[in-house]
Amino acid sequence: MRQPIDRATRISDAALVGSSPDSESLPPPTLIEVALVGRSNVGKSSLLNALTQRRGLARTSRTPGCTRQLNVFQVRCADGMAVRLVDVPGYGWARRSKIERAQWQALIEGYLTQRVSLRAIILIVDARRGPGEDERQLVDFVRRRRVAEPRRLELIWVATKLDKLAPARRRPALEELCRAAGAPVVGFSAATGDGREQIWGSIRRSILGAAPPGAGLPERA
Ligand code: GTP
Ligand code: MG
Repeated sequence: MRQPIDRATRISDAALVGSSPDSESLPPPTLIEVALVGRSNVGKSSLLNALTQRRGLARTSRTPGCTRQLNVFQVRCADGMAVRLVDVPGYGWARRSKIERAQWQALIEGYLTQRVSLRAIILIVDARRGPGEDERQLVDFVRRRRVAEPRRLELIWVATKLDKLAPARRRPALEELCRAAGAPVVGFSAATGDGREQIWGSIRRSILGAAPPGAGLPERA
């Protein structure tokens, strides 16, 4: 039974196919997209690199505000499934000016509203912090967008940097996060790769309506 799981989460190809400061000049929407969204510095680009098994594909940095454009990566899994992962600039960067914040909001809202190929948003929070006002606003925005536009748009919650919590704190922290989010939250660490298969399972379910047998379930020893 391990073979289909491996083929579903092993990556054959991953490449940057577009980088744009606005949602109008993105590559044509010819493939389903999944956007990685979250606070600045939360670990969006690191998650993208872990999902694609390419260490330096998306640029990461200790300094917040590293990703400033919509970066579109085309990914093909070993079983042939293709998807685009979109690295979205982070919000909540304190040093950003009012004008830059307004630009960010226009960029993300334009993208989330207009992009016909967008099927899911991976909403990433720090496992140590949980969701705040910015995440609530985003969830509200997605709800309104679902009412205005019945095209499917799923929300996949991920709590990252799980390795920064002591092992005994991880489960209670995730349970608390699920309560706060009112939805399932996948724990993830870019340092250990924990949670990667589960996130791929959620991505596949949002795209295909189903995951391959076993994908998305915790690995057994
Ligand atoms: P912006 O593009 O600036 O919005 O940031 P980002 O959300 O893309 O974050 P990025 O992936 O660049 O990571 C920010 C910092 O957190 C880097 O120093 C990463 O090495 C670190 N980091 C990301 N994920 C993890 C994780 O799971 N565990 C640990 N320990 N560090 C992480
Ligand atoms: Mg980034």
